[in-house]
Amino acid sequence: MTDGYRTKTSEEIELMRRSGRLLAATHELIAGMMKPGVSSAELDRAAEEFIRDGGGKPAFKGYRGYPATLCVSFNEQVVHGIPGPRRFVEGDLVGVDCGAILEGYYSDMAVTHYVGGEPPAQVDDLMKTTLRSLHKGIEKWRPGNRVGDVSAAIQKEVESRGFSVVRALVGHGIGTVMHERGLQIPNYGNAGTGLKIVEGMTAAIEPMVNMGGYDVRELKDGWTYVTADASLSCHFEHTVVATADGPRILTLP
Ligand code: MF3
Ligand code: CO
Repeated sequence: MTDGYRTKTSEEIELMRRSGRLLAATHELIAGMMKPGVSSAELDRAAEEFIRDGGGKPAFKGYRGYPATLCVSFNEQVVHGIPGPRRFVEGDLVGVDCGAILEGYYSDMAVTHYVGGEPPAQVDDLMKTTLRSLHKGIEKWRPGNRVGDVSAAIQKEVESRGFSVVRALVGHGIGTVMHERGLQIPNYGNAGTGLKIVEGMTAAIEPMVNMGGYDVRELKDGWTYVTADASLSCHFEHTVVATADGPRILTLP
């Protein structure tokens, strides 16, 4: 325990790794389906089937009444878009977030895809910057650092490119439930502040980056967040653990 956050044993980390491997493979399947004409509901069905075939369960379905396996967020939608009949069209920027449970252990991962050919330069920059900020944050997820080191690294990377980090939603502790108490990881903040990171601490780090301002609002469906200024938004997420050797990403194939 560190300030109420329970660290994981090496056995537990191995189970989270297995969960993360299944989830990363699910994302590979999804990546191959991100084509014009495919609907987000079709994507959702394929992901659920793949997770169940792999012996797992979708982590989001039934979570506070959430109805699906995936969150699929189009363009100005930031996160938590509910899958439905809407089809991808060329030029869509689509965030796909998915969680898996395997043998009682959770993993959480998000990827944003551009539908169609090459994205316009500004969209490409938004995507690459968001992914780079995630990895800059993960790099700080090591024993001896503080949560604020992660937050500050993400914020610095994003703002250096003129984009903004969403304030209203944060990364989180993860393990035997999707959102573990006692650990939140904002994507903005000051280095040297916050909870001390120790070996065995597991987290879902997930920068949400807007092309315009950082304000978001929730749609009437009670789930979907959109940017307040309707600018594009991008989201990447990995589940990670701090080890004696440094950060380790658990959501890899
Ligand atoms: N990755 C998101 C999160 O960490 C997914 C939650 S969506 C929900 O909060 F539908 F499950 F709530
Ligand atoms: Co998450």
